[in-house]
Amino acid sequence: MYSEPLEIIDNKDLTSLNTFGIKSIAKHYCELKSVNQLKELFSTPEYKSNRCIILGGGSNVLFSDSLDAFVIRNMIDGILVENEEGKHTILKVGSGVVWDDFVKYACENGYYGIENLSGIPGSVGASPIQNIGAYGVEVKDVIDEVEYYDLNSGNLVVLKSTDCNFGYRDSIFKKELKGSFIITSVSFKLSKVFNPNIEYPSLKSEIAKRGISDLNAKILREIIIGIRDSKLPSPDVLGNAGSFFKNPFIDNELLKKLQGSNSNVKYYRNNQCQVKIPAAWLIEHTGLKGVRDGNVGTHASQPLVLVNYGGATGEEIIKFANRIQEEVKKQFGISIEPEVNIIK
Ligand code: FAD
Ligand code: EPU
Repeated sequence: MYSEPLEIIDNKDLTSLNTFGIKSIAKHYCELKSVNQLKELFSTPEYKSNRCIILGGGSNVLFSDSLDAFVIRNMIDGILVENEEGKHTILKVGSGVVWDDFVKYACENGYYGIENLSGIPGSVGASPIQNIGAYGVEVKDVIDEVEYYDLNSGNLVVLKSTDCNFGYRDSIFKKELKGSFIITSVSFKLSKVFNPNIEYPSLKSEIAKRGISDLNAKILREIIIGIRDSKLPSPDVLGNAGSFFKNPFIDNELLKKLQGSNSNVKYYRNNQCQVKIPAAWLIEHTGLKGVRDGNVGTHASQPLVLVNYGGATGEEIIKFANRIQEEVKKQFGISIEPEVNIIK
């Protein structure tokens, strides 16, 4: 089967390929446009003698410095309708498709279930890795299976959704399989019936405020994008990677202690023993909301988002993130962990 030859570039500047806008030089770089190019990729001396880093849209990575590595930018394209029987449609989507292009396509073509995930940057292939989520929906709710190339065995593997160990911002790809795969496609099971999930508080109140009675997927997508634009800085204007930290889970005892001194703390019950606390609330209450330190800071309206005011290095951002973690730990006894993948 014909495949376009791979072009390998040395000393590639990755500044425009990560949404933090961090300057980092990759020792070698190539763009992977199809599964057919994998064989050629694996035969290159650059692949054989270097550490490999797979890059999608670069919206959930922080490069600590330049990379003595072979950076492979995944651009595997294509959306294929695989099965239209019954109430659902199965769509197999190339891992390099831009996530929000896929959401738009689905909303416009009557494939429902991912409207709430509108506006999330990045690629389809990265979506299962941290189980992207927003406004009450997680991608695990609609994933049927994930296809990946196993770098250890050299085989293409198909993993059913139930075997992906999905959790909040978590999956098998962040743990057991970490660093050993290239996701090539993701299959989604979307509904033919529009059955919106509008329980998330800020979404519910926005719909009520607008007095919408004839909600459809297109309108829901617009509302979600509107809420996101009002809260999150655009990486085109201010470098960032979305939420820098995950929201932490704490036990009932710690919650009681927290409520003793802060009766207004918000939380979401996870199970009988645990609740999830907004890390944004914790950071705000350490006094670090909207604080700037050199070229780095917390965003003024969403302190969970660390921003690059221009010219920040990866190390500066890591140092600032450590300061936030230490303050939260000192004041609340709670550890907050990065959501962003720090690549050293
Ligand atoms: P990258 O940043 O390129 O990579 C992320 C990790 O996945 C890296 O470790 C990389 O090596 C690995 N990887 C990527 N593709 C592959 C592949 N094909 N095979 C193997 N490994 C791979 N996330 C949410 O969950 N919800 C949100 O609401 C949200 N909002 C955001 C808002 C903004 C403004 C920004 C900048 C980010 C936001 N994010 C959000 C985070 C980010 O968009 C997601 O994590 C997204 O899935 C990352 O996709 P990417 O292609 O950019 O991945
Ligand atoms: N809050 C504050 N102060 C602030 C902002 C928020 O106290 O300045 C508190 C409020 O109590 C608010 C709560 O934090 O109700 C939650 O805020 P928000 O709805 O903005 O959500 P979040 O928990 O900060 C999470 C995800 C986002 C996702 C939104 C919407 C994580 C780590 N982040 O943010 O995902 O878009 O919910 O569902 O779970 C990302 O992963 O990169 C990301 C942006």
